[in-house]
Amino acid sequence: MEKILKMRNIRRHYAMPSGTVKALDGIDLEVSEGERIILLGPSGSGKTTLLNCLSALDSPTSGSYSFSGSLVPSNDSEKMTKFRRDNIGYVFQFFNLLQDLTVLENILLIQELAGSRDEGKARELLGMVGLADEIHRFPAEISGGQQQRVAIARSLAKTPRLLLGDELTGNLDSKTSTAVMEVLVKACEAEGITCVFVTHDESLIEYATRVVRIDSGKVLSDEIVE
Ligand SMILES: Nc1ncnc2c1ncn2[C@@H]1O[C@H](COP(=O)(O)OP(=O)(O)OP(=O)(O)O)[C@@H](O)[C@H]1O
Ligand SMILES: [Mg+2]
Repeated sequence: MEKILKMRNIRRHYAMPSGTVKALDGIDLEVSEGERIILLGPSGSGKTTLLNCLSALDSPTSGSYSFSGSLVPSNDSEKMTKFRRDNIGYVFQFFNLLQDLTVLENILLIQELAGSRDEGKARELLGMVGLADEIHRFPAEISGGQQQRVAIARSLAKTPRLLLGDELTGNLDSKTSTAVMEVLVKACEAEGITCVFVTHDESLIEYATRVVRIDSGKVLSDEIVE
């Protein structure tokens, strides 16, 4: 399979008064189209930092990152925003829904930003995650787990090439979590979407094709699980 992205020796260091924090310390990662990676590691190991670099929300301190054969922009917020808009779906650790927009409007906004408003698809995605009855409510009027499912539907709304999830199912009970993961995997397979999901929940490995473990900003192990 064609490689969708290649990271070489990526570092993300923070200069702090107490010394340098090496959030990422030499990450090498190549991902093929259609892979579903589960990224595991203890708290503080660099998982969110890695997703932020993969999505060009953050710029590495050093190293190279290419996506579809082109260098990913860094230290240029306009170009980084365009890269994200064109390629990335991201479910954040803390959902980042816009509070002044309804559930449905949160999804439509993302489509509009990507230049592809499609209300039928927005409603279909919300139905898939079990929220057909809540689409006109505001985030403050639904539960945490329901907000998380809105964020998941939103991440698929523009059919990203790369879908990133940070504790995607962290607020869902195991039954809802299973249902959401099944829907998500089916959608990603159907649309050929490549995924990297951060989790502490080892039971999600069953939905992955590959498991990467990191600690202290370094890859500890990387295995195919299909
Ligand atoms: N803005 C920042 N300034 C300084 N240090 C930071 C910053 N952001 C993250 N770090 C540090 O970088 C390391 C990695 O953080 P990161 O958020 O990537 O961890 P994580 O693996 O996502 O943890 P968790 O499972 O708790 O979410 C930690 O030591 C953290 O304290
Ligand atoms: Mg994190």
